Amino acid sequence: MNSKTSEYFIELENKYGAHNYHPLPVVLKEGDGIFVKDVENKAYFDFLSAYSAVNQGHNHPKILDALIKQANTLSLTSRAFYNNILGEYEKFISQYFGYDKVLPMNTGVEGGETAIKLCRKWAYKIKGIPENQAKVLFVDGNFWGRTISAISTSNDPLSYKDFGPFVPGFKNIPYNDIDALEEALSDPYVAGFMVEPIQGEAGVVVPDDGYLKSAKKLCEKNQVLFIADEVQTGIARTGKLLACDYEDVKPDILILGKALSGGMYPVSAALANDEIMMCIKPGEHGSTYGGNPIACAVGMAALKVVEEENLAENAYSCGMVFRNRLDAINVPFVSQIRGKGLLNAAVIDPFDGKTAWDVCMRLKENGLLAKPTHDDIIRFAPPLVISENQIHDACDIIEKTLLSFK
Ligand SMILES: Cc1ncc(COP(=O)(O)O)c(C=O)c1O
Repeated sequence: MNSKTSEYFIELENKYGAHNYHPLPVVLKEGDGIFVKDVENKAYFDFLSAYSAVNQGHNHPKILDALIKQANTLSLTSRAFYNNILGEYEKFISQYFGYDKVLPMNTGVEGGETAIKLCRKWAYKIKGIPENQAKVLFVDGNFWGRTISAISTSNDPLSYKDFGPFVPGFKNIPYNDIDALEEALSDPYVAGFMVEPIQGEAGVVVPDDGYLKSAKKLCEKNQVLFIADEVQTGIARTGKLLACDYEDVKPDILILGKALSGGMYPVSAALANDEIMMCIKPGEHGSTYGGNPIACAVGMAALKVVEEENLAENAYSCGMVFRNRLDAINVPFVSQIRGKGLLNAAVIDPFDGKTAWDVCMRLKENGLLAKPTHDDIIRFAPPLVISENQIHDACDIIEKTLLSFK
């Protein structure tokens, strides 16, 4: 038994870890389903799910079992050799999402990097853009990670300030603005358009109905690849397997991460059809751990759970209940509730010198963990294994907390 206190562990991280995060002051030691427990044995509803990685719930027995079995058998071969699980996984995930092939990586941001490399290669080999001239379009408010390429597309100074110089060949346009996209696509050197179907880190920003469909059509018309970053929205989070499914849009390149492992392991992927994927030749891209045996076993188990437990349907119906409950709470400082499925947010207008952070601190005291994004938005994203009754219990906590500020 570890009897050390939260203060002890927080101080330890402060002293020996880089200060690149500002966590809520809670020190977790256990997780089970939709709940986590801190070192003082207080239990909480987890309404962050590790930024939508733990969609299948903490310590899902089937995913855990796959992890342990594979770790006991063969953990890493690198891609210098074949192994007896990578191909099975590649077939499974490609068929699951309806693509010819997958390129496996580890983290979400590597999935994004992979998509951009695939897109640029395709631009030179297939579209015929002159060497080094290809451009990829992004939208304001995007978030796809912390590498130099990712922050080169960011318009958030917190992400990019003092980290330049930046990667060329990227251009930003406003989100949810079809006219801006149409104009940008008139440049014949544009090769791709990378977009989140709902912007997660920006604060669960949901575009207008029809935006994704129109954007995909425009991309097709201009021979530009539509690249969907579904690292946060994908794998049932928004109430469909993919958020793009709401508009029957099939991305040319699909990027997945986070819940591809149910929070058990870093697993990410870029999926595409042969015309794009076969542009990459041996030696041109890869990663020592990408597609390792543990990742493959965990990835298959995690995706099977999503299907077997109807997590998309559950996220859809529980999301409706959640938003209805939150909409009915009458406090002046909550100006909007928005989202799809179980990716939701409340917009908190600063009041009496208080911000979303203060609300999250009180939610924590009352037994529910959520994290502010920016100063004024709280994201609510529980594991998708939550039941309707548990949604009501959690909403009771949120209601009590918001009313306590009145
Ligand atoms: C939409 C989106 N893409 C990519 C990423 C990056 O994923 P990772 O942190 O695993 O690199 C994130 C992380 O939050 C994300 O939300």
